[in-house]
Amino acid sequence: MKKAIDQLSRPFKDLRISVTDRCNFRCRYCMPAEIFGPDYAFLPKQEILSFEEIERITKASVNLGVRKVKLTGGEPLIRKNLHQLIRKLYEIEEIEDIGLTTNGILLPTYADRLKEAGLKRINISLDALEENLFKKMNGVGASVEKVKAGIDAAIQAGLKVKINMVVQKGVNEDEIIPMAEYCKVKEIPLRFIEFMDVGNSNGWNWDQIVTKKEMMGILASRYELIPIEPDYYGEVAKRYRLKGSDSEIGFITSVSETFCSECTRGRISANGSFYTCLFAQSGVDLKEDLRNGMTDTELMNKLNQIWNNRNDRYSEERTEESAVKRKKIEMSYIGG
Ligand code: GTP
Ligand code: 5AD
Ligand code: SF4
Ligand code: SF4
Repeated sequence: MKKAIDQLSRPFKDLRISVTDRCNFRCRYCMPAEIFGPDYAFLPKQEILSFEEIERITKASVNLGVRKVKLTGGEPLIRKNLHQLIRKLYEIEEIEDIGLTTNGILLPTYADRLKEAGLKRINISLDALEENLFKKMNGVGASVEKVKAGIDAAIQAGLKVKINMVVQKGVNEDEIIPMAEYCKVKEIPLRFIEFMDVGNSNGWNWDQIVTKKEMMGILASRYELIPIEPDYYGEVAKRYRLKGSDSEIGFITSVSETFCSECTRGRISANGSFYTCLFAQSGVDLKEDLRNGMTDTELMNKLNQIWNNRNDRYSEERTEESAVKRKKIEMSYIGG
């Protein structure tokens, strides 16, 4: 077994797999409704990787050192029978951790099935508790109550839950304290995410960022934050405990405190391209190889070669110009 290492000495340890490019939300910062409208050309079914194809890519990646798998979308729970994929991945012995990141509204239907299939933990996105604001942010008028029901269903099913909140200036920074309070009471770790310039449709600019430092300032009016040591090498969130409780919060600071030097993540889009960075301009197609008889060893060698050549560190190199002008892959396509 080889261990893949890239040009900046980073191992290949995590695989993020997008299982669909579709979503039942239209969050403005990800899939704005005016771009992802009724005429938008989502991937046709035959271009989406089958569970067997995903399993093959995962096994090849495991042979190169991957131990953690994350299922994303679009909205991964839209993918039919997702629990069957989880079961397949769960049976791969070397995989130590399988996670899923979802908007949560389908969890009342699927949480039990996911847990039974072997899933242990789940990240749920929730950007606001104020009903009208949340309806506006998700772009389809979905109620906060639906996500809360999803959170409760996941907990009920025995899944470990974390909550993700993307913070945008002038949009939802007033929700920082209410969200911290909600998560503190429910003892759910909350991660505040700096708004990123993923893709080219979300109208990102520097003025819309609320940095970790600014968020800490807002939180300091209410809480004392005690830093927590990272759980593992390359952990994305910087974590803190709220003094006087067991609750923790984290910050994902892709803009203000980059973490590329420890980035061990490769990504597979729903149609089977491999990307070595969330902000990559292009990926390497694996689907055609898989469908044209490539062997498992050849697949592993191909992935190894791509990883060996990897030198991405976009967040460290980000400039005003690249953030706005560079052509990038959409978040809904590559899964964050
Ligand atoms: P867990 O460790 O499984 O909890 O996952 P995570 O925090 O890495 O992932 P999650 O899917 O919950 O994503 C949280 C946020 O981190 C999203 O906004 C992702 O886009 C962002 N993120 C995850 N990995 C990277 C990365 O490699 N680079 C950048 N810039 N952002 C990332
Ligand atoms: N910036 C930061 N986070 C984003 N997400 C989606 N788009 C962006 C963006 N532009 C988050 C989602 C979800 C996770 C997978 O990525 O809210 O929690
Ligand atoms: Fe869907 Fe998540 Fe994108 Fe919102 S952020 S549109 S829930 S994929
Ligand atoms: Fe990794 Fe690219 Fe994110 Fe940097 S910007 S942490 S290289 S995915």
